[in-house]
Amino acid sequence: MTVIEEVVARQILDSRGNPTVEVDVRLRDGSSGRAAVPSGASTGAAEAVELRDGDPRRFHGKGVATAVANAAGPLADAVRGLHAEEQAQVDAALIAADGSPDKSRLGANAILGVSLATAKAAAAASRRPLYRYLGGDGAVRLPVPMINIVNGGAHADNPLDFQEFMVAPVGAATFFEAVRMGSEIFHTLRRALAAAGHNTNVGDEGGFAPAFTTADEALRFVTEAIAASGYEPGGDVTICLDPAASEFYKGGAYDYAGEGVARSTAEHIDHLSGLLRRYPIASVEDPVAQDDIDGWRALTAREGAGTQLVGDDVFCTDAARLAAGIADGYANAILVKVNQVGTLTETLSTVDTARRAGYRVVMSHRSGETEDTTIADLAVATGCGQIKTGSVSRSDRTAKYNRLIRIEEELGARAEFPGAAALRPA
Ligand code: PGA
Ligand code: ZN
Repeated sequence: MTVIEEVVARQILDSRGNPTVEVDVRLRDGSSGRAAVPSGASTGAAEAVELRDGDPRRFHGKGVATAVANAAGPLADAVRGLHAEEQAQVDAALIAADGSPDKSRLGANAILGVSLATAKAAAAASRRPLYRYLGGDGAVRLPVPMINIVNGGAHADNPLDFQEFMVAPVGAATFFEAVRMGSEIFHTLRRALAAAGHNTNVGDEGGFAPAFTTADEALRFVTEAIAASGYEPGGDVTICLDPAASEFYKGGAYDYAGEGVARSTAEHIDHLSGLLRRYPIASVEDPVAQDDIDGWRALTAREGAGTQLVGDDVFCTDAARLAAGIADGYANAILVKVNQVGTLTETLSTVDTARRAGYRVVMSHRSGETEDTTIADLAVATGCGQIKTGSVSRSDRTAKYNRLIRIEEELGARAEFPGAAALRPA
C-alpha cells in the first residue's frame, strides 16, 4: 500500500528570497508528503553539500534547478517501488544513488527533500501525525524553545560579533506558555530598544538587529527585557547564546571586528567565562570555532559541568564527528539540522548517538527557512527536549512554534513540557 509511485520536485523560495528545493512524494494508495529544504548562511565546513546551479543569469547563481532535476530523475528512480515506511531502506537507496561521501553529486538538498517527503507520505498513509508516526505513542514531550531575540553575525548587518541571543522560558508550565513569555519579552525588548534610540528592524531569524557592538550590551538589554516583562532572569527565563565562533576565527585568533579587538583562544575563553558569570546563560552553541578543538576541550573542561555547550559547526549533525567529540570530551550537547547531514535516517542516528553518550540534543532550523514545519514534529518525535527555531516574528519561524502549539493541544493532558532540566548538562 505504501509503495512510492511518484516523486515531483520544484524550486520554491526560502525566507531570504533564495530558491530552494521542494519535493512531493506520492504513494500508490494516494497518500502524499511534501517537504521543503532549508538553507544555512553560517554553514559548517563538513556539512553535506547543498547543490546550487551557479548560473549567474538565474537567481544570481543560487538556482537549484539541477537539484530539482536530480530529485525528480535519478533519486526518484532509486526509490520508486520501495515502501515509504522503510525509511532506512529509502535513505540508503538515496545515498547509494548519489555515491559521494558528502552528497555533492546529486545534492544534499535534493536528497533531503525526498527523504523527508517520504516520511511525511508514510505518516499520511498511516493516518498519524508525523511526530507520532516517527516517535510512537510515547512521543509526548514538547521542546523548550530557544527564542531568538537579538541577531548579529552573519544574520544581520549590525557590528555585533555574536550571531544569536536567545531566551529559553524554562519556568513555563506548557509550550504555549513558553511562547507567550517569549513573545512578551520580544515586545518589551522592542520598546526598550526604541526608547534607547536603537532601530527595531529584525534580522534573518526574526530577532532584532540593533547596532550593538558588544555581547555585554546585547546581554544587558536581554536581561532587562526578561525582568521588565515580570520574569526572573535565570529562574523563569534563561539566556542561550550562539556566538557562531567559526565565523570570526581568523588566523588562529578570535577577531571581534565589531568590538575592534582580537582575542587568543585563551582570552576568548576567559571572555566567555566572564559572560557566564555576569549573566544567567544556560547554554552556549559554537562557543569556539569548528577547527579550534583545543579551545573546545579547554572550555568544556572549564564550563561543561554547569553550562550546556552545543556543537553545531564542529559536529554538523554527523554521528562520526559527534563520536569524536564524545571520545575526546568536548561539548556536552549537539545541534541537529536535518540538511547538514541530508537524510532523516542519518539525523535520527545522530540523535541516538548523542542520547547514548548523555549529550543533550537541540533540534534546529536554518537561517534560510520555509513554511515547512518538519523540525517541530522531529523535536516531539525524538523527545529531545529543546528546539531552536528563531524569533517569534516572521512566518518562517512562527510556523514551527504554531505547529508545536497545535501538537500540544492534540496531546492534551498527555503533553509534557520539560523545563529547565532539558538544558542542564547530563
Ligand atoms: P545558519 O545559522 O543556518 O545560517 O547556519 C544557524 C546556526 O548557526 O545555528
Ligand atoms: Zn549555530
